[in-house]
Amino acid sequence: MSDREDHSGTRTARELWGGHFAEDAAPLMERINASIDFDRRLWREDIEGSRAHARMLAACGIISAADRDAILAGLDRIAREIEEGRFPFSRALEDIHLNIEARLTELVGEPGRRLHTARSRNDQVATDLRLWVVRACRRADGLLRALQRVLVARAREHVTTVMPGFTHLQAAQPVTLAHHLLAYVEMFGRDRSRFRDARRRMDECPLGAAALAGTSFPVDRFMTARLLGFARPTANSVDSVSDRDFALDYLAAAAITAVHLSRLGEELVIWSTPQFGFVRLPEAFTSGSSIMPQKRNPDAAELVRAKSGRIFGDLQRLLVVLKGLPLAYSKDMQEDKEGVFDAADGLELCLAAVREMLRGMEVRPERMRAAATVGHTLATDLADWLVREKGVSFREAHGIAARVVRRAEERGVELHELSAEELRAVDPRLDAGALAVLTVERAVASRTSYGGTAPARVRAALAEAVRRWGLEEEDGTGEAEP
Ligand code: ARG
Repeated sequence: MSDREDHSGTRTARELWGGHFAEDAAPLMERINASIDFDRRLWREDIEGSRAHARMLAACGIISAADRDAILAGLDRIAREIEEGRFPFSRALEDIHLNIEARLTELVGEPGRRLHTARSRNDQVATDLRLWVVRACRRADGLLRALQRVLVARAREHVTTVMPGFTHLQAAQPVTLAHHLLAYVEMFGRDRSRFRDARRRMDECPLGAAALAGTSFPVDRFMTARLLGFARPTANSVDSVSDRDFALDYLAAAAITAVHLSRLGEELVIWSTPQFGFVRLPEAFTSGSSIMPQKRNPDAAELVRAKSGRIFGDLQRLLVVLKGLPLAYSKDMQEDKEGVFDAADGLELCLAAVREMLRGMEVRPERMRAAATVGHTLATDLADWLVREKGVSFREAHGIAARVVRRAEERGVELHELSAEELRAVDPRLDAGALAVLTVERAVASRTSYGGTAPARVRAALAEAVRRWGLEEEDGTGEAEP
């Protein structure tokens, strides 16, 4: 942070407000009050907002065309200075809005002083942050889509790869890996729709609400909204500068996405242990141990799991900041930004890291298949067979299958390792047909209900997911700026 001794223009926020302040800000005041250290991330949006505002002011005859042109040229120069790291950011000028305005006046003189006509930092910051969050929603969508594409690609390879499905993390019933991966495609699809909903709701421009009451100048808020790509202006000036629910919408969508990412991260951690051995994570996303030569730790997956906590915290902190505030603007709201930036940074990093881990992970179908019967996972199939073939009620069949499980446990074998005689000894209706039903392939293939794990179903589900979530065309990694 360079403080700008080298300029002849306005150097502090107090000079900008003029008049009634006799004393300088205390150094502590400057430290608690200034937001420039973090809100400089809004510089693009701030300049765009000022551009649109200047054009609207000129179109409405509030400033001259010459003033507008001077302002636009000055803003271009400032954008270049910031891009090239030459802009003299100053804490004494508090925030990005005053930093840019002061520099503009330095560069172009009087027209710079006219730019703030019919606006306030209150509607300015609401607009800047909204523009930023709209873009963050778009980036999240692109990254989620890219992740869905990788999940679908990996699922395609494993339509017939059988693994144990779990409930309570106890082996439950066999499923296919493709089916399991498609579960996440659904979750991430709903996450995308949450960001889309959020974007639709925030598609209104606060600029022109001014401090809180609107303005006496004959502004055209519809024009400003249009120039900034919003569907329309916000309807109520007090609401425009008071609420940050658009940021909450974003953070809530991010938090739910982070839950999904964390659960996937957790599964990667479990699956990559030597005890499971279902997958080997790409070496590039694991680390070794300084003492145990055999270790291959899933650090990236663990950090995805952990960073979800930060994102939940970011949502919580903004909820708490806002909850007691009377309308309209209060300075508390300056604390809205860091959490939003932190959540966006964490979310985007995790989405990309999970995508690459999945892309590079080596699947070990033989380990998955071997684990698929451990824990008597075919017991339901045995009960279903009794219902289907012998007309037994499900409750009775459940009891018979449970006795078979007990018998297998006594012998220390899996269900399919029992002999025909042993089965018959439990219940005479368990004939040769019962034994034949006890394979994971049959178990999986039999679950043909809509949304079930049968390979035929999963093939159709894959095609359906691609269509429903619009995953046909390659669109890069999702990381590009929209
Ligand atoms: N830096 C401020 C913020 O982020 C800008 C708005 C300041 N408005 C005010 N009335 N002091 O909230």
